[in-house]
Amino acid sequence: MAVIPVELAGRSYEVRVERGLLADIAGQAAPFLRKARVPIVADANARAHWGAVVEQSLEAAGKEPRWYEVAPGEGSKSWESLARLTDWLLAEGVERGDHVLALGGGVVGDLTGFACSILKRGCGFVQLPTTLLAQVDSSVGGKTAINTAAGKNLVGAFHQPSLVLADLDSLATLPPRELRAGYAEVLKYGVLGNAAFFDWLDANGEQVLALEHAPLEQAVATSVAAKARIVAEDERETSGTRALLNLGHTFGHALEAETDFSDKLLHGEAVALGMVLAARYSARRGLMPLRDAERVVRIVEKAGLPSEIAALDMQADGKALADHMLHDKKMDAGTLPFILLRGIGEAYLAKDVDLSDIAAFLDEELQAH
Ligand code: GLY
Repeated sequence: MAVIPVELAGRSYEVRVERGLLADIAGQAAPFLRKARVPIVADANARAHWGAVVEQSLEAAGKEPRWYEVAPGEGSKSWESLARLTDWLLAEGVERGDHVLALGGGVVGDLTGFACSILKRGCGFVQLPTTLLAQVDSSVGGKTAINTAAGKNLVGAFHQPSLVLADLDSLATLPPRELRAGYAEVLKYGVLGNAAFFDWLDANGEQVLALEHAPLEQAVATSVAAKARIVAEDERETSGTRALLNLGHTFGHALEAETDFSDKLLHGEAVALGMVLAARYSARRGLMPLRDAERVVRIVEKAGLPSEIAALDMQADGKALADHMLHDKKMDAGTLPFILLRGIGEAYLAKDVDLSDIAAFLDEELQAH
C-alpha cells in the first residue's frame, strides 16, 4: 500500500492507495467512525458496484450504514441537492465530531465536502473516490463546491477530508472512456512538474490503462504525492503554486463551455486537449522546444485521448473560444493567468497572455491540423 501524507498544520491527513480498501472500510476508517450509525453519501453507480462490499465490512464491525444516494452527473452539484443533503445529514443527527463517507467520483466528493464544510459550521468527512480522476485530483486537497447558473464550482469552500482511501479495485468498474479521461490528470502531473514521471508514463502508460496493479499503484501514488506537495505549499491557491494544477484547464474550460459541458467532451478529455494547446502555444511563443510540445501531443494520442480541436467539429472560431475564457473564474483584475510551459515538467504561471493572441492561435489550430 502507498500512504501519502498531506501535510497541513493541524489538519494533516493520509491518502492510502491500494486494492481492497473498500472491503476493509471499517478497519481503514475506524478512528473516524465513533458512532454505530455511519452516514454514507454515494452516487447511484458507485453504490450499485460497491454498496454491498462497504455494507458488509461496516456491518461485520457492528456499524449501521445509512445511505444517501445522489444521481450521477454534474446536475447533482446544485443548491437544491445541497439543501436536500444537508437536511438529510441534520435529520440523521450528524454532529461536528462525526464523519460522513463520500463514495463516488468528483461530483459526490465536491457536494459532500461542501455540505460537511457548512454543517454545524463544519463536520468531518472521508473521501472514498471511485474514479481515476477523483483519486488523483478532486478527492485530495480540500476544494469543495457546487455549480450555479453563473458557472461551475463558483460556490464552495476549502474543507479538507480527514482521510482519503483510493481503492484501485474500484477503477475496474469504470467505463474505459472515463478511465482515459482520468488518466489525462495523471499525465498532467508529468507535464507540469516531473519530466521523469512523464518519461515513465510514456513507457508504462499502456499497463496503467490496462489496470496492471504495480504500474497503476505507482501512477496513482506519484500523482497524489505531486498534488499533496502542491497543496501543502499553497493550500488556498494564493502563491501561484497550486495554480499550476490548472495546466490545460483554461483552454479546456473554453472547449467544455463551447460543447455545453456535455458528454461530447468529458472534463478529462478537455484537460488533455488543453494541455496539448498549452504546449503548442508555448512552443509557438518560443518558450518551449517544439519537439517537447510534440511529445505532449503523442502521449495524449497514445492514451486514446483527443489531441486536435479541429476534430471536435465545433462551429466556434478562435475569438468565440477566447470569449468563453473571459468568464473563467481565474480571471484576476482584468487579466487571465495561463499555465504555460518552458519544457516538459516546467510549467509556470504566465500573467502576460493576450487573449487576442490566444484567439489567433486557436484559429490556426482549428485550421492547421
Ligand atoms: N483540481 C485543482 C486543485 O485541486 O487545485
